[in-house]
Amino acid sequence: MKVLLLGSGGREHALAEKLVQSSLCTQLFVAPGNPGTRSIATNVPLDILNADELALFIRENQIALVLVGPEQALVEGMYEQLQERSALDGCIYFGPGKVGAQLEGSKDFAKQFMQRHSIPTAKYKTFQANQLEEAKSYLEATAGPYVLKADGLAAGKGVIITESRQEAIREIEELLGGKFGAASTTVVIEEFLSGIEFSVFVATNGKDYAILPEAKDYKRIGEGDTGLNTGGMGSISPVPFLNESLRQKVLIEVVEPTLKGLQLEGIEYTGFLFLGLILVEGEVFVIEYNVRMGDPETQSVMSRIDSDFLELLVALGKGEKLPELRIKEESAATVVLVSEGYPGSYPKGRAISGLEGIERAHIYHAGTTEEEGQLRTSGGRVIAVTALGKSASEALTFANEAAGRVQFEGKYFRKDIGKDLL
Ligand code: AMP
Ligand code: GLY
Repeated sequence: MKVLLLGSGGREHALAEKLVQSSLCTQLFVAPGNPGTRSIATNVPLDILNADELALFIRENQIALVLVGPEQALVEGMYEQLQERSALDGCIYFGPGKVGAQLEGSKDFAKQFMQRHSIPTAKYKTFQANQLEEAKSYLEATAGPYVLKADGLAAGKGVIITESRQEAIREIEELLGGKFGAASTTVVIEEFLSGIEFSVFVATNGKDYAILPEAKDYKRIGEGDTGLNTGGMGSISPVPFLNESLRQKVLIEVVEPTLKGLQLEGIEYTGFLFLGLILVEGEVFVIEYNVRMGDPETQSVMSRIDSDFLELLVALGKGEKLPELRIKEESAATVVLVSEGYPGSYPKGRAISGLEGIERAHIYHAGTTEEEGQLRTSGGRVIAVTALGKSASEALTFANEAAGRVQFEGKYFRKDIGKDLL
């Protein structure tokens, strides 16, 4: 079967690698892809938010499965747009439709959904642009730390956490004033939860599901989890403290009620469900839902999957019996190499070298381009290196060693990924 994967980051390079390993995959197209996916699949220069372009390509190439990497196309309702163009007859679209994608696309929708289905999450209150005074009074009457969340997609910058009431008030003014345009004219203010975060990934058709390897992601730019939030600086899988009883708790209290809630509300959902969870004194709370895989969690997660991943996606898409999902015992660690300045502004076009001869780790391209045979930086997160090891510590040693060998001017990476869990 021919498969079309949408996206261009490290997550997509890792997914692409898994898809081309499948005996079912006769050809993989990646739109638009990156130099890493070009080395294993066929990159196609499609605009992944343009339904006309995608529909034409899917029909002309008889694509049997579309896998959507990033969230925006999902939240904008690409599924419905392709259906309207009759592009999905006989084709599996692995990603939720517009309503299901609201679990990520609207914090308020997600919070209300969790409340309706008794899924544990932080207490919250939602304010609209015309409720600035109410929001301020609410902050005045509440003790910090304050957690403010823009309702819509804000490129990972929509969550503000501060101890200072003054700053919270300044932020709520900016958010409701349209700091992120329409994405922040509704704001969720929620209770601060203090605990340890981890992520669980589910592949589902809304009824049947497979739990993929879990991961822990490191979001802050600085070592010791300091500084600004980023898209993710590293990940490890498995998460050592996620034991069998905690896993059961996540299934019973979060995964199953979420799927049952979707069914009860008549929301069809074929795709990934990424649960951002926090463990607080033995109890699990949902911090956020995402309707896609994480980046750089996918690099660690896919490295640990030992069975045919495309077979699983096809079985889910067709509603057939799910094949066994085999997971390697080994640990995986991913370290992300970023451009100096990231997550603020950063230079582009710097020559990348040192990729040859790295044996104990795998290179995933994220923000790279190739010009006349020379690989150059083109994004904030440039490359993710992922290694497997007998233990998390061994995997980290290999990943850090590879991270040290890749060279480009202004390279930065966190040397403490996973150290908190060893
Ligand atoms: P989100 O985009 O909702 O995942 O939020 C980004 C990050 O902010 C999370 O990964 C957490 O580290 C932090 N965060 C979000 N909500 C809360 C909360 N209620 N309490 C504490 N930390 C939070
Ligand atoms: N690494 C976090 C995310 O993909 O949302």
